[in-house]
Amino acid sequence: MSVTEATGPDGATEGRPEAADTSVSAVLRHRWRPVETAPAVPSLSLKGRSVAVLGGTAEQRDGVVAALATAGASPRLAPTTGDVAGWSGPEDSRLAEAMAAFVAAGPVDGIVDLGVAGAFSAAEPDLWVAPFCATVALVQATYDDWVAEDDARRLFYLAVTRMGGRLGYDGQGVEQPLGGIWSGFAKGLPQELPNCRVKVLDVAPPDLGRLGELVVTEACTPELYEVGYRNGRRAALAAATEPVGPPAVTLRPGDVVLFTGGARGIGAAVARRLAERHRCRVVVTGRSPLPDASEPWLGMDEEAFRRDATDRLRHRPDGRSVAEVRRENERRADLREVVANLAAARADGLDLEYRVCDATDAEAVAALVRPLAARLKFVVHNAGIASPTRLRNKSLVTVTGVVRAKVAGFANLVAALEGPAGGVGHGVELLCNVGSVSGRVGGTLGQVDYAAANEALTRLGFWATAGGLPVTTMCWTTWARVGLIGNYDAAIRWGTAVSLQEGVTRWEAEMLAARPGEVMFLGRIGRALSPRQPGGFAKFRDHPDVVWMASARHHLGEIVRFVPFRSATSVNRFRRGDHPCLGELTVGGAPTLPVGVVLEHAAAVADWVAMEGWPELHLRELRDVHLDLDALRFDEGELALTKSGTGRSLDGQWVVDVELATSRPVGGLRLVLAAERTGWEGPAATAPAGPPSPPVMPEGAVAGLRWRGAVHRLGGWEARGHLLGARVPLARPSDAWMHTSPPRAPLPVTAVEAIVQGAATTVPAGGRARWVRLGSVRLAGEGPGSALNADATVVDVVGSPPAGAWRVTTTGGRPLLACEGVEVLAS
Ligand SMILES: NC(=O)c1ccc[n+]([C@@H]2O[C@H](COP(=O)([O-])OP(=O)(O)OC[C@H]3O[C@@H](n4cnc5c(N)ncnc54)[C@H](OP(=O)(O)O)[C@@H]3O)[C@@H](O)[C@H]2O)c1
Repeated sequence: MSVTEATGPDGATEGRPEAADTSVSAVLRHRWRPVETAPAVPSLSLKGRSVAVLGGTAEQRDGVVAALATAGASPRLAPTTGDVAGWSGPEDSRLAEAMAAFVAAGPVDGIVDLGVAGAFSAAEPDLWVAPFCATVALVQATYDDWVAEDDARRLFYLAVTRMGGRLGYDGQGVEQPLGGIWSGFAKGLPQELPNCRVKVLDVAPPDLGRLGELVVTEACTPELYEVGYRNGRRAALAAATEPVGPPAVTLRPGDVVLFTGGARGIGAAVARRLAERHRCRVVVTGRSPLPDASEPWLGMDEEAFRRDATDRLRHRPDGRSVAEVRRENERRADLREVVANLAAARADGLDLEYRVCDATDAEAVAALVRPLAARLKFVVHNAGIASPTRLRNKSLVTVTGVVRAKVAGFANLVAALEGPAGGVGHGVELLCNVGSVSGRVGGTLGQVDYAAANEALTRLGFWATAGGLPVTTMCWTTWARVGLIGNYDAAIRWGTAVSLQEGVTRWEAEMLAARPGEVMFLGRIGRALSPRQPGGFAKFRDHPDVVWMASARHHLGEIVRFVPFRSATSVNRFRRGDHPCLGELTVGGAPTLPVGVVLEHAAAVADWVAMEGWPELHLRELRDVHLDLDALRFDEGELALTKSGTGRSLDGQWVVDVELATSRPVGGLRLVLAAERTGWEGPAATAPAGPPSPPVMPEGAVAGLRWRGAVHRLGGWEARGHLLGARVPLARPSDAWMHTSPPRAPLPVTAVEAIVQGAATTVPAGGRARWVRLGSVRLAGEGPGSALNADATVVDVVGSPPAGAWRVTTTGGRPLLACEGVEVLAS
């Protein structure tokens, strides 16, 4: 575990990586809220798709089936638990068999999941179990087909929730918060099934009448993972940062704070902090009685314990299975942690005690809460379990167990807090749910059930708050090597971790501010996103990584085919009038997509064709670039550019071969990526050797190429001996693109245009440029975040057109780009 420098709750280091451990960074505090958004623009079709419909009421299913049929799909009602006579619960394998038979009868291209019917009551917290088991069993039955699918337009999973049409975030209460289970499940799916597009559709009662129509519209609209409809108006969720409020509650000696869990893991750190700082009484809980103090494994040091655990695995006692011994070893490790934490608290004179209580046991929770109720100030629902493995490999018992720890635990606490006169809370200032970003924005691989559990917590919190019990749910990113995250190294590929110290500080501040709602704590975002994820959360703002996410999304265009760690095909549809940079170039008078725009989109293919495990790689070189300008001509102002990239390891580097096509082949290139942060570093001032004769000066149209100059102000060429040189202002992304978050190009696009212009001077008089070749474009510096986009605003472009060698440097001589083998050829 690494504990890094403490920061205040909203300290100055927000969002910046901490130096000591690059897996850890300060987190930002975000709040999500509903915002009205433009009507959906469906871009896909359901024609001919076989769509399974499940959950909800018979009336809802009928409406959806009718609308799907009208849209040209083939809807099929999936079996329910009611169809399996006498279904006895998650351990009953007949549900999985029924779903397997359903899928065997015909492939499933999409799932419309109407989830749980009826309203929520804390007295009936298990209402979700049967419909959620049906959901999981159906997705498991389709799993092998869906995971192998590389067509990014075929599959979808759409979950319908009923939380008021604003996803529960408008403070109006939530009729059925258990919809959060399906919401979290949906958003977690793309991690496992990368070509499954997902959607959560929240519908207010007045809009349920057109549920079928809304389902069809949203199933065909990949943008935005979560939308809601109320009175016909569409809303999405947006996130922005917000500081925590000032303390509103004082904790005093004699006040009681009750934790579900809290004897180990991250909860234990907070429990200790509260007992230490506020001298209050803290009650932590767990499912097991404390072990007998005489157990030999309790007294071992870490090294001896590890050796003993390995020995036990090798020579399994009583013929037990490896899995059994492993579980026992893990349990022993957990209990050692509990015993050590309690001993440390005792030694420090803290009022911290441990009680055995399984949060999923309603009676046990009631019995625990009752005697404490009069002094209870905070309740922290911190209990949670995880089972981080692919959904295909999980039993329904495991999946429901993960969800139950959070959902039933919460409902039991709420029921136990009901006062004798039916009021809620007993004066509790805040029930603080410990949730996870996995529910909010999709978890890591193997976390769909965990994401479901956590997302449900937020909505249950909204529901309880509306009923009079203030609840806040904290959605945490991974904590630095503390608690239940099994594979830390894998987890941080999705995002950096929060340090224990910062986490505890923020958690305490959140409790004392006692403001109901939901907050999300997120550090830097890792590269392990699935291609639709940035578009799924398009209204996520106020984060240092929004720029690259928006850039990646822009450059990707529409994903068509995707095989993780191997290949991606996507299409960018350009309309010449939409963005200034698209209108820059004409070739022989014909509007043509500029070479720089082509290269920035082609280079960004590497965002999605990543090396297995997403090691941090940097674009170092574009090789063998060959483009046919005629194929880049706009046809009536429009052009669809298809980019297909395939990656592989080659000579210690990661290379991605990209083929480009419009209505006909454009050409291609190879991208070369490497782990080194710095690439080519010079020579900066030494110009390449070229023939002694002075070069031809570009003027007006060069070989039929004419730049309008609205974005790229080329020109000012001078002959420098036998070289051609120009000082060129780099276009800012906001000059080139009319987006609110303009994309950052992975290379200096204006300089590329200048090189093409300079190189075109070799085309004999009267010739018209047709092909552009760049044998090698090597990038210097630390990539797009640094010199190329930030500090270099004007660059020097110097080259020898006949030799085909060019250099781009800052005006201070710092190298940016070196190009060899540059040719512009006429047809
Ligand atoms: N660690 C992270 O990076 C991270 C990130 C985001 C959110 N979270 C959330 O933080 C909370 C604490 O997790 P952790 O990371 O500290 O994991 P942990 O070390 O495994 O602790 C989990 C705690 O929950 C208790 N627990 C589990 N099921 C319970 C039940 N049915 N009844 C009572 N107690 C139960 C465990 O006690 P027993 O096993 O002894 O019963 C243990 O004290 C969880 O809700 C988790 O989802 C953690």
